[in-house]
Amino acid sequence: LRNLFAPRMGKQRQSFSNHFQPRASSYKVAVLGASGGIGQPLALLVKMSPLVSALHLYDIANVKGVAADLSHCNTPSQVLDFTGPSELANCLKGVEVVVIPAGVPRKPGMTRDDLFNINANIVRTLVEAVADNCPDAFIHIISNPVNSTVPIAAEVLKQKGVYDPKKLFGVTTLDVVRANTFVAQKKNLKLIDVDVPVVGGHAGITILPLLSKTKPSVSFTDEEVEELTVRIQNAGTEVVEAKAGAGSATLSMAYAAARFVESSLRALDGDGDVYECSYVQSDLTELPFFASRIKLGKKGVEAIIPSDLQGLTEYEMQALEALKPELKASIEKGVGFAQKQA
Ligand code: NAI
Repeated sequence: LRNLFAPRMGKQRQSFSNHFQPRASSYKVAVLGASGGIGQPLALLVKMSPLVSALHLYDIANVKGVAADLSHCNTPSQVLDFTGPSELANCLKGVEVVVIPAGVPRKPGMTRDDLFNINANIVRTLVEAVADNCPDAFIHIISNPVNSTVPIAAEVLKQKGVYDPKKLFGVTTLDVVRANTFVAQKKNLKLIDVDVPVVGGHAGITILPLLSKTKPSVSFTDEEVEELTVRIQNAGTEVVEAKAGAGSATLSMAYAAARFVESSLRALDGDGDVYECSYVQSDLTELPFFASRIKLGKKGVEAIIPSDLQGLTEYEMQALEALKPELKASIEKGVGFAQKQA
């Protein structure tokens, strides 16, 4: 999996069968919302990881079948299923990484913000249980609107007295995956070499791909920058419209989320060279939460990389200023919601 998700770093060439040999250290991962469109393929990809010893699958319905099905894959991790709130605590005990794709997805015509009322309550309830049962775990929030659900999770953890900002992550990996793919296509580059940092947030204009920081270094015309930026920002809507009422991105999201899980596990396992973009508590700008490249370590966010915001182009600087009011409002909406419930 390491070679699949991070080809540029995959110095050790492993044979396919070697992927499935148990490792000396391995970790317990929980997926909350595991029978959903994202949850199922995500669980499959996490089941393939040699770093996982136990995979705990939780949902309010249909999780038994998913777990039975996955449990037949001859990879090292044990799969356990948990259904409904009465089994949530047992799902979370002893877990090191919790991934939350529970909630409703967008339908055509909806923005991520339209999901707020339903998903805000789901995330609040699930994070309360995380605080009670595995407060030291890395928490990966996928449920939208991520710009607000991450601040909600932070408030809930604060209310419970267990908030560690280094261990709470909004999953924005899909924005990076999309940016890499679209840039490679546009510039005829070898896909596995391309890396584009994406900063800001995870909705509309708050998604800011820093094309000037693309590795390997490439130049873009102004038209290309505009076209690529808009496509990356609206890529989710491309999928929502193509699915025509049957949900939003699930397969590419599962791939992106599995990459972020694998990166977290590698960091927990002592790999000192793990970088990802993520929406985290941040002092990079005046906003309390901001997505940018981070270095992951055993204790979570080891460093927020400031250099990506230095030497921006005029276009990027303007886009950065333009996204701040919207991102600020989404953060305040999340904080306000969580404080009202307290
Ligand atoms: P889905 O409807 O297929 O699956 C959601 C799952 O959550 C269902 O199995 C449902 O039973 C479960 N669920 C609902 N309430 C729950 C609760 N209280 N506890 C546990 N599980 C619960 O939706 P899909 O497509 O998997 O999307 C899930 C979320 O991920 C949505 O909010 C969507 O907007 C978001 N998303 C985030 C992306 C990102 O880049 N961060 C990209 C794509 C989607």
